[in-house]
Amino acid sequence: MRVEKTYIYTAFERFWHWMQAALIFFLAATGFEIHGSFSFFGFEEAVQYHRIAAYALIVLIVFAIFWHVTTGAWRQYVPTLENIRAYFNYYLFGIFRNAPHPTRKTVLSKLNPLQKLVYFGLKTLIIPVIVVSGLLYMFYRSLDANGVEGLNVGTLKIIAVTHTAAAFAIIAFIIAHIYLTTTGETIFSNLKAMLTGYEEHIEPEGGDDPEQGKRREFPPTSTESPDVLEEQGT
Ligand code: HEM
Repeated sequence: MRVEKTYIYTAFERFWHWMQAALIFFLAATGFEIHGSFSFFGFEEAVQYHRIAAYALIVLIVFAIFWHVTTGAWRQYVPTLENIRAYFNYYLFGIFRNAPHPTRKTVLSKLNPLQKLVYFGLKTLIIPVIVVSGLLYMFYRSLDANGVEGLNVGTLKIIAVTHTAAAFAIIAFIIAHIYLTTTGETIFSNLKAMLTGYEEHIEPEGGDDPEQGKRREFPPTSTESPDVLEEQGT
């Protein structure tokens, strides 16, 4: 047995991931306080903090879009049907039998086809809905004062319900996401990879010998050093 390390998450991706996680947790907490689910900061302060965190999230989203476009990393979210059957089987059956994942992550392709679908939906639907409905919620009064047609109390209700529904969708995603992070090689191996950038695999001695149960690899793994990968623009 030997431990093989593969570089998966670049420094920017790790920074983006944890900042986004912290901001979304804070927005969910303050948002549900505004909603009236519980009281911690008090309504007025919760509104102030929610707005500040919302601006911070928008700035982070702008940086993330810039990074994904300039590095070409956006390509990894484009949905594909390749290997989708293998992953349905894995999540329905294999995962409960401790079977290996059908493919292995690389720095250029870290999402499996089901993750691609879910993340694509999150980034092109849920996040835009929560940001746009949040901004409409924020600027509703000034839009209303400027006589924008079609805005009335009924519109505000639609905005609030849409924003809250998107918040529930994000929370459902987070619950599934946290559970699935525990289904790596060990409970904390995926978490560790998102902290250090490296994923560790325990390789049986004997390499390609099928008797030894070597994994199928698609696409081929990269064991390049981070410097080389950064130079490649990832
Ligand atoms: C850029 C992103 C966001 C913006 C601009 C935004 C903006 C707002 C605004 C302006 C309000 C109303 C506060 C008031 O009464 O003045 C609000 C409420 C709320 N927000 Fe956000 N928000 C954002 C992201 C989020 C996220 C990520 C979540 C949760 C995951 C969330 C959950 C909520 C909830 C639950 C409410 C209470 C809705 C209600 O009961 O009417 N928000 N948000």
